[in-house]
Amino acid sequence: MTLRLSSAGESHGPALVAIVSGLPAGLELDRAAIDADLKRRQEGYGRSPRQQIEQDRVEVLAGLRHGRTLGTPLALVVRNVDHKNWTWGMAPWPPEGEPSGKGTKPVTLPRPGHADLAGVQKFGHTDVRDSLERASARHTAVHVAAGAVAKALLATIGISVAGSTVDEEGLRVRIDEARAERDTVGGLVEVRATGVPPGFGSYATKEDRLDARLAAALMGIQAVKGVEIGDGFALALLRGSQAHDEIDTSKRRTSNRAGGIEAGISNGEEIVVRAAMKPLPTLMKPLGSVDLETGQAGDALVERSDVAAVEALAVVAEAAVAWELAVAAKEKFGGDAVGDFVAAHRAYIERIAWH
Ligand SMILES: Cc1cc2nc3c(=O)[nH]c(=O)nc-3n(C[C@H](O)[C@H](O)[C@H](O)COP(=O)(O)O)c2cc1C
Repeated sequence: MTLRLSSAGESHGPALVAIVSGLPAGLELDRAAIDADLKRRQEGYGRSPRQQIEQDRVEVLAGLRHGRTLGTPLALVVRNVDHKNWTWGMAPWPPEGEPSGKGTKPVTLPRPGHADLAGVQKFGHTDVRDSLERASARHTAVHVAAGAVAKALLATIGISVAGSTVDEEGLRVRIDEARAERDTVGGLVEVRATGVPPGFGSYATKEDRLDARLAAALMGIQAVKGVEIGDGFALALLRGSQAHDEIDTSKRRTSNRAGGIEAGISNGEEIVVRAAMKPLPTLMKPLGSVDLETGQAGDALVERSDVAAVEALAVVAEAAVAWELAVAAKEKFGGDAVGDFVAAHRAYIERIAWH
């Protein structure tokens, strides 16, 4: 069974939901480990007070018994605690009583750089909120929960995945400067996966290529505008003799400029990917926009927002990479029971004599 993930949930709606199917039975999940990743996503320099309102915790509604997967769809829920302030504004059904709380007035001033204008044009909404609520990165919380499940599966075959920011000190200085000027910043994150054997992904089609899949997974995260695998963009300026990784007699590489992937297939070296995040589009000193109700010029929507979310992106990107690697691992080793999955991995490692 292929590993699949689907999710639903708006930023200020009642909850975020993910359904993970195709997991082998008997995989042990650690609730504290999933919650720890949810907490990491909420932390980080430059985040807004929303993160103090939300104390993300995973709930499991199906697919798990006594901490072990049943081989059936796993239903994960992360509640939006802030929804209590939006019960009228974000009520799924027509709200009763007088408007109260947040989200009662339509948003008509789209933010440059956000989903607001293209979203209402595409879907025929009149209230920008009908677009921005899902476009918001809030629902990455439940993807982080799914990523933690993927990491548990990968751990059974010795693979670990870790995301971090690139140049954390420089980032903090830029965040302080931007905050003082009521502006926002972006930045770079890196994800490294160790223990991936040669042979994940393939070269036959772009759907098979592991590099393409990781790039799509990272580019699929809000505000990511660039992705590189290994030395990526820098390779374009090098000679071939400087760019490729020589093979030694143990079939390992003496360098890792390829970032652990050649021809769309993992080559057994550490997988290294980077993503570039643009500065966040919600500005306390707003850019120019148009009022969709009156047609007059106006300032874009100002809503509580982060100065930066680069450290959070590192956690979300880690989850996205873990998810893609888990999909590729499940594709390669199969297994309805986790023991089958682990045994297939062991047999393969023996066949290629990989250490
Ligand atoms: C973890 C995370 C947190 C984010 N927080 C904010 C935020 O507080 N304010 C904001 O304007 N954008 C935030 N964004 C970025 C927007 O969601 C994103 O720019 C927007 O949906 C438009 O999509 P695009 O940037 O991919 O074109 C965040 C993104 C991520 C990954």
